[in-house]
Amino acid sequence: MANPANRVLSGIRPTGPLHVGHLVGAIANWARLQESYECFFMIADWHALTSNFEDTSHIREWVLENTACMLAAGVDPDRVVMFRQSDVPEHAELHLLLSMVTPVPWLERVPTYKEQKEQMADKDLSSYGFLGYPVLQTADILAYRATVVPVGDDQVAHLELGREIVRRFNHLYGEVFPEPKPLLTQTPRLPGPDRRKMSKSYGNAIELGGDRAAAEKLVKEMYTDPVKIRKNDPGHPDDCVVMAFHRTFNEAAVAGIDRECRAGERGCVACKSEMMGHLWDRMGPVHEKRKALLADPAKLGGILERGARRAREEAGATLKLVRTAMKLA
Ligand code: TRP
Repeated sequence: MANPANRVLSGIRPTGPLHVGHLVGAIANWARLQESYECFFMIADWHALTSNFEDTSHIREWVLENTACMLAAGVDPDRVVMFRQSDVPEHAELHLLLSMVTPVPWLERVPTYKEQKEQMADKDLSSYGFLGYPVLQTADILAYRATVVPVGDDQVAHLELGREIVRRFNHLYGEVFPEPKPLLTQTPRLPGPDRRKMSKSYGNAIELGGDRAAAEKLVKEMYTDPVKIRKNDPGHPDDCVVMAFHRTFNEAAVAGIDRECRAGERGCVACKSEMMGHLWDRMGPVHEKRKALLADPAKLGGILERGARRAREEAGATLKLVRTAMKLA
């Protein structure tokens, strides 16, 4: 029996098709967590709006895409509560109530807030909703009184703010919420083939929807040690994207590959093709399952609806406690 004191919640934003970095960095990890925790996994479509409110034309398609990828990666809707954020209006009510106790300077201090406003200068991030992003994220977690939040390191600051909101809320109204803790993903972030962050917007994403040929094309273009020109030149695997992929998809062979590369006994072309085999061993089955699942969108919709009903039961119970604590009920 899962320990209810160890309840997990995590979310993913439906902002586009998922790639292999999402698989190893997030959703495959979720499939592992369902073995030992009571889990709530959410497709955060309201969070997708914070930076993409101008064009919502693809959002429903991407919700289904994300749902199919989660299932293909092994997340089991009979064992976890898997749902879409906007199907559970309790998140919005809790967001509103938490916003009352959250000082604006706390939000302005969140590092990702400043960074993203600077880096995504082409987007209009001046909205109230974007500033409140971490308050909504806190509501997502607290609606289930979750204590364990699997996230990448980019989300740690949001979690820290969430903990501050919890302390303030509990101080004002009594102990309603446990403090959620981040559970950092163990796998190092997979770089894109060009060494930049893997992202659809850079055109360097190995998408789960892409076939083997599409993945192979990106693998062939992968950045390798620029001073290793001939097969027998000694290489520097620490700066090599192919090596980063070996570390994730071919872990058992990494020590040998590292030694051969440094000794000039391993050519990059053969090294890429070996890695490609291991990458596809992992990705191929997910790619195929995703495709089969997307052929039946009504079934995917049904899974999300069922998840939302279960999520609303839990979130509804939490909101009752919250209204009582705040003397609203
Ligand atoms: N902000 C998270 C991301 O971009 C997605 C998310 C939304 C989330 N709500 C959450 C993650 C609650 C953990 C808990 O990756």
